[in-house]
Amino acid sequence: MSRPYRLLVKNAKQLVLICKNSEKYLTKDGMQNLCVIENGSVVIGSDGLIKAVGPAETIRAQYAEALFDKVIDAAGMCVLPGLVDAHTHPVWAGDRVHEFAMKLAGATYMDVHRAGGGIHFTVEHTRAAPASDLLATLRSRLMRMQRAGTTLVECKSGYGLELQTELKMLEVIEEARRSLPINISATYCGAHAVPKGKTVAEATEDILRVQLPRLKERMSAGTLRVDNIDVFCEQGVFDLSSSRSILQAGKQMGLNINFHGDELHPMNSAQMGAELGALAISHLEEVTDAGIAAMAKAKTAAVLLPTTAYILRLPQPRARDMLDAGVIVALGSDFNPNAYCCSMPIVMHLACVNMRMSMPEALAAATINAAYALGRSHTHGSLEVNKHGDLLLLNATRWEHLIYQLGGHQELIRYVIIKGDVV
Ligand code: NIG
Ligand code: FE
Repeated sequence: MSRPYRLLVKNAKQLVLICKNSEKYLTKDGMQNLCVIENGSVVIGSDGLIKAVGPAETIRAQYAEALFDKVIDAAGMCVLPGLVDAHTHPVWAGDRVHEFAMKLAGATYMDVHRAGGGIHFTVEHTRAAPASDLLATLRSRLMRMQRAGTTLVECKSGYGLELQTELKMLEVIEEARRSLPINISATYCGAHAVPKGKTVAEATEDILRVQLPRLKERMSAGTLRVDNIDVFCEQGVFDLSSSRSILQAGKQMGLNINFHGDELHPMNSAQMGAELGALAISHLEEVTDAGIAAMAKAKTAAVLLPTTAYILRLPQPRARDMLDAGVIVALGSDFNPNAYCCSMPIVMHLACVNMRMSMPEALAAATINAAYALGRSHTHGSLEVNKHGDLLLLNATRWEHLIYQLGGHQELIRYVIIKGDVV
């Protein structure tokens, strides 16, 4: 018979709560002052939710160990919330290792894209792939992310660019959601590129008249769960006005607006997103001061992707300017065939070294603020009562090792726990 509580993690050298007053996000001051308890314990109930967090002696006095299915002694270890990856493209067939060589030799992202490679290459292979193959590779990528500490991940479609393949991708994401412990936030990204042979106007029309209505039917029938809508708002891809109409249509269907903007050219995507009430905008390497101010005012999160700027040798996203302006800064891996990175610890490391974030800022950006960018910060992103019991145990006496160590995190991350179960 199962006991009243699922898991007790006791005596952690450092217990990193992130915050403790039900904050939905943190801005600079809060990010710099994370809530950390020395020698703390966490109680997770049989429903997988956190029932108590606090100093080890307080928890010991209130909860007898006999009440728990499992007890982990975390003496000498650190406990943190599971990491949240706010931006990934994990469903695709056909890698692009050959393009990495081209880019190292000097080709830009758009050179490769215009030559029919890049997203177009992946679209061709993904359209041809059976759903079972896409599911198998998605599962192994998600497991890899989980081993690196990610417990909630955003997953985009966007390598179909037509109804059938976009639905195939979303179905594969749905199947992964049902069969794996990792939490998933699903994003429809049918406007990831303009399909070959179509104009922007034709592609926009197809999304508005064909793809979104079908998606709406599937969502209402309860056969598909989609949380967010995304567009690649960029010169030579979807311009500002087509992006706006697609995002607005998605919002009307109840989807969160969460899109790619101001990546390679300043497009005023940030201002447009803020005006539409976007929950988040990703990339922003080319955002302007006015865009930053608009995002701060609208509480639109900036999902910064240090792997993209690193691999493509782009200007670094202006993390410091955004933090100073009061923007809610989050992080994502941008895992995709261009940026093959499954690891949020590496993303945080890059954010600190290249974007000049501090370690507490990077951790807040990869937990509570990434959860906010997905509309999930009421349930995820910090160790607070009633949130999901998703946590990491590190073989280290200071939590900063998660960011300080560059790679090899399998040794450092001793346990990944989702809803109170060791996964
Ligand atoms: O976020 N910028 C657009 N989309 C992806 C790249 C997708 C791809 O190249 O396959 C990104 O970096
Ligand atoms: Fe992306």
